[in-house]
Amino acid sequence: MTADPEPTPAGPETVSQFESATTIHPASARSATGTHALPETPVDLIFNPWVPEIHANPYPVYRRLQQEDPVHKPFPGVWILSRHRDVAALLRHPDVSSDRRNSPVYEEFVKALPVEPDEGALTPSMLFLDPPDHDRLRRLANKAFTPRAVERLVPRIHQVVTELLDRAEERGEFDVIADLAYPLPVTVISEMLGIPEEDRERLRAWSLDLIYTLDPMLSVEALARAQRAGAEFRSYLRELIAGRRRHLGDDLLSGLIQAEDQGQQLTPQELVATCVLLLVAGHETTSSFIGNGMLALLRHPDQYARLHDDPALMRSAGEELLRFDSPVQLTGRLVLRDAQIAGQRVQAGQDVVALVGAANRDPEVFAEPDRLDLGRTDNGHLAFDGGIHFWLGAPLARVEGGTAIASVVRRFPALGLATDEPVWRDTITLRALSSLPVAVT
Ligand code: HEM
Repeated sequence: MTADPEPTPAGPETVSQFESATTIHPASARSATGTHALPETPVDLIFNPWVPEIHANPYPVYRRLQQEDPVHKPFPGVWILSRHRDVAALLRHPDVSSDRRNSPVYEEFVKALPVEPDEGALTPSMLFLDPPDHDRLRRLANKAFTPRAVERLVPRIHQVVTELLDRAEERGEFDVIADLAYPLPVTVISEMLGIPEEDRERLRAWSLDLIYTLDPMLSVEALARAQRAGAEFRSYLRELIAGRRRHLGDDLLSGLIQAEDQGQQLTPQELVATCVLLLVAGHETTSSFIGNGMLALLRHPDQYARLHDDPALMRSAGEELLRFDSPVQLTGRLVLRDAQIAGQRVQAGQDVVALVGAANRDPEVFAEPDRLDLGRTDNGHLAFDGGIHFWLGAPLARVEGGTAIASVVRRFPALGLATDEPVWRDTITLRALSSLPVAVT
């Protein structure tokens, strides 16, 4: 690791939660007490994504989980699903919740937060809400986030990619992350919301701290950092929104301010939570799509050449790259009522983790799942799946990721990895590289 801190050990100083990038919510009693019981399943197979080898390449362990322990119970109260059918079913299960306030230990968790929550810290974004509030927020966001709005962005996306690659080409070598995968989506989502250029570095810093709160566990220090970043981010946005209210434009933020659903608008705190979610989700995942996708292509020169020779393949290639090394590796749900999940009786208040990254390599669904095949058809990957939380930014990320990857491959027929050991960021839910140096050969 260079720029990023060492992986968080899942030790006693950790808290556990599935928390939105906007607010703080617990998953279970472990979160508040910081302790957890010894593993109940006495097998040599304990899924621990913080182990460096597993972090670097989780796919062999995913396969073992699917074959040997598809409903994995690393410790009491937590279930881990790895099969495609179980993951897809969980995300649509009527008895599970994304709202951490339903956790039996929510109050305890809030009291134990390392930093006093600021105004808005406990207002969940739509990602961490259930119907009807989820549906109301999503309908409002959808109004401002229309496919037409994304369509209008296509020329600008091409222009940003061209400018970034022009600069990279001049140098002869570049870092796919720093020079393309990060600046492209950040520029696009910031321009959509009307975030001034000079503020975008701060946005990046807040996002880097906040993204850890999506992980199943994080250290108390990381949680404190995330809380501070969230508080600064929200305060920044409140000011930006106040100014925009006085001078409404045709940007996404003005659209969100004005959006109405059945006579109702977003409350001020909901508006801030939605903006944080859009800004963080709108660039971290797309950046990872481009980075992971480029790494996969560079490690499979035959597929790289295939895409170079047949650019029309980009549509299926994009889906295959998202399947092969998914940006969002896992998500979680809280069980509201005793329920049958993946053939097991799961009690109310327990947590179920869905390993999306494993589901996307399930041999029951994908022929030769570990083979990268850019022409793969019927690609039923779950990279964007969240049931009702299905990826709001799908059209945008597809256009951004597809344009960036296709442009690199078209422009540089002979591009090589300039490192044997790409460095992964130490986040668990988001699988992303911290750098990917390449050389034009
Ligand atoms: C390749 C890029 C992306 C991937 C892989 C991805 C993946 C996902 C996944 C898996 C979920 C559901 C999580 C869950 O239910 O637990 C989700 C939700 C969401 N994503 Fe993305 N995403 C990407 C890009 C984007 C972009 C570009 C935006 C916005 C500009 C965005 C905005 C959202 C929002 C707002 C939600 C919550 C939707 C809801 O709760 O109804 N995402 N994303």
